[in-house]
Amino acid sequence: MKKLIVSAVLGSLILASSVGAQQRDPIQDQIKYRQSVYVLLSSHFGPIGAMMRGRADFDLAALQSNAATLEAIAPLALNAFTLESHGEGSDALPGIWENREDFDEKMNNLQMGMAGLAEAAKTATSVDDVREAFGNVGGTCKACHDDYRADPSVRVR
Ligand code: HEC
Repeated sequence: MKKLIVSAVLGSLILASSVGAQQRDPIQDQIKYRQSVYVLLSSHFGPIGAMMRGRADFDLAALQSNAATLEAIAPLALNAFTLESHGEGSDALPGIWENREDFDEKMNNLQMGMAGLAEAAKTATSVDDVREAFGNVGGTCKACHDDYRADPSVRVR
């Protein structure tokens, strides 16, 4: 038992010293977090897009689960722009922090769009029932990328 405690203490000391050696960079952390959120968004958006384009069969359970997840995670995107974080490793344009109101409005449009998609998915019986709501969301992605992302294309997985 004693041995176990000693090795656990040693283990955490080693961990602490290796973390201490390399300072965390909050800006790089935020960029990584944000890109992960967008990868998640596009991973849940892509399967719905495939149904829209006839590249996947209509699957109500998958549609509803992806739409509900999108609505839940969309707010995380806004949390990922609290620090002025652009430059190396990021496609975010500095304009985000210069036109904060406009940017936040575009983020709000994304969240409203996701809520609309989740709502439409609840009662959908075919892809046509969510086509408009899906298009609205796609428009909100594009509107923001056009103004605030160095590479304005919107890629979905
Ligand atoms: C309010 C602004 C805004 C909205 C809305 C928005 N994006 Fe983005 N998106 C960005 C910015 C800014 C970046 C660049 C982030 C970076 O590189 O630091 C980005 C990056 C991305 C990336 C690349 C992530 C990576 O691996 O680097 C993907 C994929 C993406 N967005 C998909 C989407 C999709 C899909 C939607 C809509 C469902 C969407 N975005 C809506 C602003 C937005």
